[in-house]
Amino acid sequence: MKEGIMRRVIKGGTIVTADRSYEADIAVENGVIAEIGPDLKGDEVLDASGCYVMPGGIDPHVHLQMPFMGTFSADDFESGTRAALAGGTTMVVDFCLPDPQQAPLDALAIWDAKARGACADYSYHMAVTWWGETMFDQMQAVTRRGINTFKHFLAYKGALMVNDEELFASFRRCAELGSTALVHAENGDVVAAMQEKLLSEGLTGPEGHALSRPPEVEGEATNRAIMLADMAGVPLYVVHTSCEQAHEAIRRARQKGMRVYGEPLIQHLVLDDSEYRHENWDHAAQRVMSPPFRDKRHQDSLWAGLQAGSLQVVATDHCAFTIEQKRFGLNDFTRIPNGTGGLEDRMPVLWTEGVNTGRLTPNEFVAVTSTNIAKILNCYPQKGAILPGSDADIVVWDPEKSATITPERQQSVVEYNVFEGREVKGLPRYTLARGEVAVEDGAIRATPGHGRFVGRPPMGPVNKALSTWKAATAPRGVARSAANMPGGV
Ligand code: URP
Ligand code: ZN
Ligand code: ZN
Ligand code: ZN
Repeated sequence: MKEGIMRRVIKGGTIVTADRSYEADIAVENGVIAEIGPDLKGDEVLDASGCYVMPGGIDPHVHLQMPFMGTFSADDFESGTRAALAGGTTMVVDFCLPDPQQAPLDALAIWDAKARGACADYSYHMAVTWWGETMFDQMQAVTRRGINTFKHFLAYKGALMVNDEELFASFRRCAELGSTALVHAENGDVVAAMQEKLLSEGLTGPEGHALSRPPEVEGEATNRAIMLADMAGVPLYVVHTSCEQAHEAIRRARQKGMRVYGEPLIQHLVLDDSEYRHENWDHAAQRVMSPPFRDKRHQDSLWAGLQAGSLQVVATDHCAFTIEQKRFGLNDFTRIPNGTGGLEDRMPVLWTEGVNTGRLTPNEFVAVTSTNIAKILNCYPQKGAILPGSDADIVVWDPEKSATITPERQQSVVEYNVFEGREVKGLPRYTLARGEVAVEDGAIRATPGHGRFVGRPPMGPVNKALSTWKAATAPRGVARSAANMPGGV
């Protein structure tokens, strides 16, 4: 907080949470919400008239300075969280990725060092990138460090991918530890075979990326992960759900009472696979990410999922690469680093395409950008809430403020933006990061190093319920008396 400011009051706005909207002021002290009510007084007043005052966004899927495909994603924790705050997101969750055979606690030390410059609060998921005794053993210590989510890649054969045996063993370990499993659900074996076929036929351009990863490879892997997670008794969170086939699997499982969540990305909600057929190579390559953008009809499925509650969270998978990095794959689409940006744009684009169109209510917007994921990650109501005692991660949202997305005005270090040229209406007037005014009317005042690690304990309410249910319904042998055995008397 600015020196001398002890109590900051957000005045005259409408508070919008996941379950209600009402008029009240908010007083912030020492980085937390001290009071909510009418006519509050403070040392500094932030004018919220005409605005919605909402929990800051949480993006549970980002890759900052990610080591991937022979390079590192271009935004680090400093530029990435600055971009997040500019767009109203006050917490990000990155993925800690151990190298093959590297102990997860050693990888965590590397991630802690990278995160020092973060302007906003952050947490990590731990990726299970290989399987063995050290991974099994240290998963407990990782959980004790406040990381209750373990990610599994079913794609990226020969790199991050795990096989079904490893996946199931890790799912069982996650269940034992009261944590939640995450999956990148694409069948990596099939993708590798499709890539080889397309390259052998001479198809080397970025359009080959989408053609090698059709919705079927995602639908199959999503369904497989769901079934294995249910058998292991672990809640499952499916990252970047991009298509009807994957959504269908999630929807069906939830109707059967399975504990599964789906996360569409803002990219998949509004961008489609015609981008890969663009005549300009750079344009198409800049949109290469996994899963790829889909045919437009999949977008209806994803929006409907958010409306119906079969999909719960909108994220970005922010993993930005420069033009030069994307050109690594000039003659071979399998070498184009996979990933796109979006941290700064998620909230304005979702508001514009979701709330302004009537697909989502403002309360649903808060649910899918903040509150739902805070509950899934077990950091609610420290995050994702406007309540006394909650962290003062707050966005004062001006529904009348509009802008055109351009790379020139963005915080991300890359030179382009996949949403470039898009008009958005609905932007932050202020973003508060644990009480600090990080954004004021477009001026970015975020402080590198202000961000803190958010620990998330295991055994959240859903883990407890699921383990209770699984214990109650576990397979049991039949106790037979001697008289009922062959030859018995
Ligand atoms: O293309 C993507 N999504 N890049 C980041 C890594 C991942 O798969 O999430
Ligand atoms: Zn992924
Ligand atoms: Zn990702
Ligand atoms: Zn600070």
